[in-house]
Amino acid sequence: MTMRRVTLIPGDGPGNELFAPLTALLEAAGARVEWQWMRSEASEDALASALPAACIQSVRTNGVALKGPMLPAKGRLESPTITLRKALGLYAGVRHVRNLAGLPARYQDVDLVVIRENTEDVYAGLEHEVHPGVVESIKVVTRVASERIFRFAYRYARSHGRQKLAIVHKANIMKRADGLFLDVGREVAADYPDVETRDVIVDNACMQLVQRPHQFQVLVCGNLYGDILSDLAAGLVGGVSAVWGMDQGDDCVVFEAIHGSAENPLPLLMPAIALLGHLGQGGAQARLSAAVERLLADGQSLPRDLGGHATPLEVFAALRAAL
Ligand code: IPM
Ligand code: MG
Repeated sequence: MTMRRVTLIPGDGPGNELFAPLTALLEAAGARVEWQWMRSEASEDALASALPAACIQSVRTNGVALKGPMLPAKGRLESPTITLRKALGLYAGVRHVRNLAGLPARYQDVDLVVIRENTEDVYAGLEHEVHPGVVESIKVVTRVASERIFRFAYRYARSHGRQKLAIVHKANIMKRADGLFLDVGREVAADYPDVETRDVIVDNACMQLVQRPHQFQVLVCGNLYGDILSDLAAGLVGGVSAVWGMDQGDDCVVFEAIHGSAENPLPLLMPAIALLGHLGQGGAQARLSAAVERLLADGQSLPRDLGGHATPLEVFAALRAAL
């Protein structure tokens, strides 16, 4: 199998020091990846981006990256995660929410996907003080970005054998902004009659998710609702160990740990395993997935936040032994 070059952005969040043992574990499982390590500390220059240009260029060149959690940027700088999404045009945030065998969770057999528009909405970062004590934050919704995310979501539904899609919005209140998002969603839906479309107001979507998550297959959201719903949904299946993020554009894809943990390697390992699938390295992917299942089933070497006593390095050792 040929070696693939992948950008690795460990980030500065919790657990970033675990990427060295993590890449060693992947290699032991037979992964053929040449990692291009990138530092990501915020630049000293307050006007510069919180993400070095070399890092962005590396992802552009390699087309694929693995990213750890990053701390909020200093001062009023944009979050480096957001900078990366915008700079690389990673317009689709995909979070596959499903149970991980052996991981305790509120529900079992959940299998839904939150697809999130990643580039606009209140994440546009347009905030200003119009008068002392009065701040406006602008929600940007465009037809172009809305159509792009809906077409992505319907293509995703089709290619992943999903028949139901829910458009999440608050068009009863934000009649113009969310109204446009909803209208475009319905227009695009007409081109995909094989997918059953419904729309759900975001607050109701939260309640429905908590009460009956199995009714959902694909949820399409604007940026902020997608952010909130994906964490809500992760909480249904056991939290940060089960759910990773995939930020996708036309030319690049970034697999990311949504939340880090200094105690538990699983939030970092799960996106790395998914990445191997993307690279076509299904053998290594399957060996690692089986090792994670064995770790959870056996219960002897669980990290502290899953009720065990193992340090992260002991978890890696147990996974290696389980390969
Ligand atoms: C996420 C995170 C990010 C977001 C933060 C870290 C900027 O919460 O990826 O879900 O708000 O999108
Ligand atoms: Mg989030």
